[in-house]
Amino acid sequence: MSTPSTALSRGRESNVMPGERVIWDSMGSELHGVDLTAPFSDSQFNEIRRIFCKRHLLVIPGQQIDADQLEAFAMRFGQPDPVVKTEANDGSFRKAVHSVSNLNAQGVPTISPVINANYFWHSDRAYRPKGSICTMLHGIEIPPSGGDTLFANLILAYKALPEVTKKRIDQLKVIHSYEFMRETIMKLPLTEEERKKQQPSEHSLVPIHPETGEKILFIGMYASEIVGMPLKEGRALLTELQEFATQPQFIFAHQWRAGDVVVWDNRCLVHKATDDYQMDKYRRVMRRVVVQGTAEF
Ligand code: OGA
Ligand code: MN
Repeated sequence: MSTPSTALSRGRESNVMPGERVIWDSMGSELHGVDLTAPFSDSQFNEIRRIFCKRHLLVIPGQQIDADQLEAFAMRFGQPDPVVKTEANDGSFRKAVHSVSNLNAQGVPTISPVINANYFWHSDRAYRPKGSICTMLHGIEIPPSGGDTLFANLILAYKALPEVTKKRIDQLKVIHSYEFMRETIMKLPLTEEERKKQQPSEHSLVPIHPETGEKILFIGMYASEIVGMPLKEGRALLTELQEFATQPQFIFAHQWRAGDVVVWDNRCLVHKATDDYQMDKYRRVMRRVVVQGTAEF
């Protein structure tokens, strides 16, 4: 019997139900028996989606897929972020699937990639009204050691706060601003055109996870001020909460192997890259796609 000639049917004919291995108590499952070159039935994908909502971080090892196949998998989760015509750090233009790497415009590894904000705790697109559901990275070239991605679980962090702090912050609203990040972290002020496109958004400091109903301590590098609080006081509170939420007990470090596809829930995790490898010697190249959020929070 012939298979339909879609990008997803070049590999195995179909998938089996994914096998799940919990990789760390507090978040994350590794999925086995998944082949992203093969089609999923709805019940197979629903199982992946169920594990994603429960564990917030999926590691799918050993995937040999192209950009279209990564995008097709992202589309099962929702709407990939549209093409954004800004220059990536390696000089290429970003599409829904684009690369993140430590390469400069000449394709040479460098210690100072243009996009350096990835080394600070954040949730992708948190400055948009609906944030994002998830980001996927596909490991293409991985340094021999180091260069892990760190994830902090903001549901666990909220749960661990003292009751008095929970009461104090439960109803607060926070501004998340791309401009704030660009000025404080990248030290690269926005152009007028960028400012028009990247308007800040207001979110609850403690939103509810739309799929699990759990409370989240939603902080990160885009959080610029607390609504109705003097700027300095709001920033101090945000810094204190971020330090609390990113303590070692809430963190998982993913050690990359080429072929890993990692999917994480931006609604309840913050993440960052680490620069603990010889960045001017080894290449670290990932393919990336972000899936848009569906609800304001
Ligand atoms: C990202 C990101 C971290 C990493 O792609 O959104 O933050 O480890 N990446 O590359
Ligand atoms: Mn990111």
